[in-house]
Amino acid sequence: MAKKRKSWEKRLASEPDKLAIDFVESISYDRRLYKYDIAGSIAHAKMLSEQKLISKADYNKIVDGLLAIEQEITDGSFKFDKYQEDIHMAIEAALIEKVGQAGEKLHTGRSRNDQVATDMRLWMRDEIEILQTKITQLQKAFVEAAGKYTEDVMPSYTHLQRAQPVVIAAYLLSFVEQLERDIARLGNCSELLNVSVLGSGAVAGSTLPIDRESTAGQLGFCDISRNSIDAVSDRDFCAEFIFDCALVATHLSKLAEDWIIFSSSEFDFIRIKDSFCTSSSMMPQKRNPDILELIRSKTGRVYGSLIAMLTLLKALPSGYNRDLQEDKIHVFGAADTVEQSLEMACAIVSNTKFNVDKIKAGLDEGFLDAAALAEYLVDKGIAFRQAHGIVGELVAFCEKNNKSLKQLSIEQLKKYCPAVEKDVYEHLGAINAVKSYVTIGSAGSKQAKIQINYWQKLLAER
Ligand code: ARG
Repeated sequence: MAKKRKSWEKRLASEPDKLAIDFVESISYDRRLYKYDIAGSIAHAKMLSEQKLISKADYNKIVDGLLAIEQEITDGSFKFDKYQEDIHMAIEAALIEKVGQAGEKLHTGRSRNDQVATDMRLWMRDEIEILQTKITQLQKAFVEAAGKYTEDVMPSYTHLQRAQPVVIAAYLLSFVEQLERDIARLGNCSELLNVSVLGSGAVAGSTLPIDRESTAGQLGFCDISRNSIDAVSDRDFCAEFIFDCALVATHLSKLAEDWIIFSSSEFDFIRIKDSFCTSSSMMPQKRNPDILELIRSKTGRVYGSLIAMLTLLKALPSGYNRDLQEDKIHVFGAADTVEQSLEMACAIVSNTKFNVDKIKAGLDEGFLDAAALAEYLVDKGIAFRQAHGIVGELVAFCEKNNKSLKQLSIEQLKKYCPAVEKDVYEHLGAINAVKSYVTIGSAGSKQAKIQINYWQKLLAER
């Protein structure tokens, strides 16, 4: 078969070097843009025919050819050739081979520079929707799990030291909040990037009457870019997208870290289903949370993509530079990693049980009710700073005598603070302390149920 030649071979005296072909190509990773590249080309061809830059007959040939190529790529029969460099050239060359002269007209008033930027925006718009759906699925898994633990109390931590008691549901719902911000952030990114750069050409636009509004409308963009020099080089949306992915990964890594700790024998707060655990090749007793560890580690990959993307953009000269080709490696890498981690996190959340009895049995340790006691004293008219000091003394006394606060007699309590009355016992102990929470958003059972209700309604609409 004769080699498909590139039009620029007339300009360059020698055949491209073999090593150079391998080094320059992006077709090995940008082929996943093919649907968007074809959609962009069909819109461009339609506009060219509307503007009488090509005939209706040529337009029809181009569309038929492009759709046939799309089918071939989808069913795997398309032959990718590194010599064609990238998906844009591969599709154009295949089109010319299929429909001849009409195909040679497709690139009128267009450059790969505005073409690839268009493809990336179209791809990212869809990818953001996929990510948002996966995040929603994870949120739903958390809300469902929370529904099972609205009355069960666990310790919360600050500095990884026991802090105040909370219901398990409230703890689980804290992740739903983080994920909700991720969805909003990705939504903002999608809105900002939804601008058409097609028609910006290589850097300066075109002398031909290219109708940019037409292609923008056909491709569902909300606006068109104002400045061609900026348009062909703008990859802000790529950096922003990876940053959004990096925060999703951050949130997943926090969940992973919590649950790795929670599944240790020292904590024994949770039990992950066997099918999501691994064992050791040497120690027969092991049930390891490897999946969570990998979710935690993959966060590093996404951060790496973010730094790589920003470094790629730093101090680039104005206009298009080939460096920009590598945006895809980092953008695709971040998206794929986060998608996978989201799916795994969803499976883990749906297949993990809290060991409520074990957790309950340990609630008397760590003076989880100390803050509630201080607030009880405030209610009895004592200034908070004083109350804080009194409870501090009481805790020290308990520690010395190996007692919990609720085990102190009313006389012992009164010795430290005469304002204490019998009703103090309604506030002592972790379970009572949780019942005393009244502020909106606090981590008690009542508030958790309100939040579950809120999320169930909201998420059902997605
Ligand atoms: N494969 C290239 C990229 O991804 C397409 C644009 C090439 N433009 C050029 N002037 N060489 O950026």
